[in-house]
Formats: sequence, structure tokens, C-alpha cells
Amino acid sequence: MIKIAILGYGTIGSGVVEVLNTNQESIAKRAGDEIQVKYILDLRDFPGDPMEDKVVHDYDIIADDPEIQVVVEAMGGVEPAYTFVKRALLSGKNVTTSNKALVAKHGAELIAIAKDKSINFLFEASVGGGIPIIRPLNSSLTADEIEEITGILNGTTNYMLSKMTFEGLEFDDVLKDAQSRGYAEADPTADIEGYDACRKIAILTSMVCGQQVDFEEIYTEGISKITATDIRYAKAMGRVIKLLATSRKTEEGYCAMVAPFMLSQSHPLYNVNDVFNAIFVHGNVLGDAMFYGSGAGKLPTASAVVADIVDIAKHLNKNILISWSSRKMDLIDCKKAKSRFFVRANDGKEAIQQSFGKVEFIEAKDVLGETGFLTEVMSEEDYAQKANGLKHILQRIRVV
Ligand code: HSE
Repeated sequence: MIKIAILGYGTIGSGVVEVLNTNQESIAKRAGDEIQVKYILDLRDFPGDPMEDKVVHDYDIIADDPEIQVVVEAMGGVEPAYTFVKRALLSGKNVTTSNKALVAKHGAELIAIAKDKSINFLFEASVGGGIPIIRPLNSSLTADEIEEITGILNGTTNYMLSKMTFEGLEFDDVLKDAQSRGYAEADPTADIEGYDACRKIAILTSMVCGQQVDFEEIYTEGISKITATDIRYAKAMGRVIKLLATSRKTEEGYCAMVAPFMLSQSHPLYNVNDVFNAIFVHGNVLGDAMFYGSGAGKLPTASAVVADIVDIAKHLNKNILISWSSRKMDLIDCKKAKSRFFVRANDGKEAIQQSFGKVEFIEAKDVLGETGFLTEVMSEEDYAQKANGLKHILQRIRVV
């Protein structure tokens, strides 16, 4: 019997209990032993809940109980999660977490402690919810140099952009809708400003390059400035707007970015809609691979957490090597990254051509009194320099 403690009885924590109950037999078979929840740590009580008697309010009870072999961190946020997880690992308890903020900030250190103690710190659910991506990067795609990893890593914003595309709605209206469905938080900043996706691509880039990538260094732009007019232009070009988190290996180093992009129909992420996530990976010998599925939500995320528990049970006292050292990987500035740019401006066509040279003007249905155009392929720094020649740029979105 493997006894576990769950920190936090919110959406993910209660999802873990539900998954363990629903698939109890098959999970025990795959883990090679029965998994039993001994404690749930939460500030609240849960009168009437079947797990009521497991709830404790004092972390010491869990940390000091030698029977607990696995701690499931489902609290979110960096503190007190970091303190609790570090203490658990230092005392020889395995940990799994769904917490991207914790993993992005302290992943390298926690992985090193687990290695030192011959135990495991696993975090499959921290990126892409229920989609397996951490384990494939660590265990399956090990023959490759990963040259690109690009994902739709935030379900809330993908839902919002899909709704804007399919129903022609404005940003504020779809945000209210996403909040009413429980997708977006009451404070939706982390989702709509791209901070959530930024932490996730920081984790993926760290996994790919084997070193610590600081999320603070990743250029991050959210979707809060995307309007129904932008969507009309995208439609006129047969494109969709998606929030992409992307990381590329170049000769100078890794360049990572989170930003809205206009995708053509041939792009592998074009058809990823609603709350779904997808991750496109390009390896130098593999070529292309895609991972698609439920990127958020109670049961998909809990499914990934429980899969980590099973992996831990199969590797008791044996560390699964994760190549992510605390040596810092300095990202390169993306100003040399090249793409086409879609621009909306109040400047006249002549001024636009004077600044940008050859462009493709775009007419969008029901849009008057402004000019939309597509530039040629150019670097970020070239774009910035040419854009200085215009007086009234209303919007610019990268095009892939
Ligand atoms: N807020 C996140 C999302 C939850 O919408 O994708 C999963 O990390």
C-alpha cells in the first residue's frame, strides 16, 4: 500500500481523489500496489465530504509521518508550495505537482534534491493539463535535438479567441463568458496577459535545453489588445489568431516568446480550438510531432497527476533522471527572429509603402477608415525601425 498526502483540496486536489476512486483497480495494477490517500491538507473543513476525516490543517502532520511516500502538491502559487515541497523532498518523500509557477521558478533545485535523495519530483500536469508532454520530452524524444517547440498552452485564451473567431464577439464579452463558465479566473490577468503560457514555455524550454530558463526573460504579449476588427482581417486572409508560446533553437542560442500570431490554414495549430491545448515539436531527426488534448480542467489535470503517482510507485527509491540543471540558459533576444507582420494603421497607403516598401493591402468586411496590410518577411528589429516611419499604428500581429 502506498500512502499519499494531497496538499490542497480545490479543483485539482479533489480531481486527484476522484480519479483514484474512479480507476482504483487499473491504477493499482499499473502501479503494482494500491494507492491510498491518508491526508488532505487544506485550511478549510469539508463537512459531509467522503474525505472529511482525512483533512488536516497542519503540514507538520504530513511531513513528520514516515508512512507518507508521496506528496501531491495541488495548492498553486509559489509559496507555501515551495517550502512544503522542498521539505517533503528533503525528508525523502516523492512529490508530484501541477503547479507551473512552482516548477518554472524552482524546478531545477527540486529536481536536484530528488536526484540526491534517490526519489522523484514529477510535474507532468504543470504544462498542457492532461496532455503528456513532460514525460515524452524526458523519456521518448531523447534521440533528438529539439529545434522548435510551439504550443497553444492556455485553454482560457484559446477558448476566448475561438469564440471571437466563430461568433465575431468583442474581447470584453468573451472574457465575461469565459469567467461565467469558470475557465477564466475572477482576476484573469495571468491567462490573458500570457503569464501562464510564459511559465509553461519556460518549463518546456528548460526540459529541451537541460538548463534553467528564467521565465522573466521571455518576451510575453497577451491577447488583451486583440479586437473583433483584428479577427475580421484574419478571416479576410483565411487565417486565425492564436496565442502561441514558442521556443526555437538557433545558432546563437534559444529564443522564446509568447504572443498572438495569425496562423495560416496549413499551420499544425490552426484547428486547435476552444479550451484544447496542443504542442508542436520539431526534432532534428524526428521531424514533426504534435501533442493534442485537454489542456486544463479538473479531471484532465488530475489524470496527469495520478499518472505521476503511478510512475513514482513504479520507481520507488529510484530516481528518474530529468536533465534540467540549475545552470542558467541565457535566452537570446528575439529581435533577429523573422516573420511577416500584419499591421493596421491610420496612415495612407503611400506613407505605408514609403516606410515598408512592398506590402500586401488587405480589405476586411465592414472595416472602414483605416488600412490593413501584410509586410514581407522581416526581423523584429527591422519591423520596429520601419514602423517608426508611420504615425498611427493601431495594431501589429506576427504572421506564421
Ligand atoms: N488557466 C490555465 C488555462 C489553467 O486556462 O490553461 C491550466 O494551466
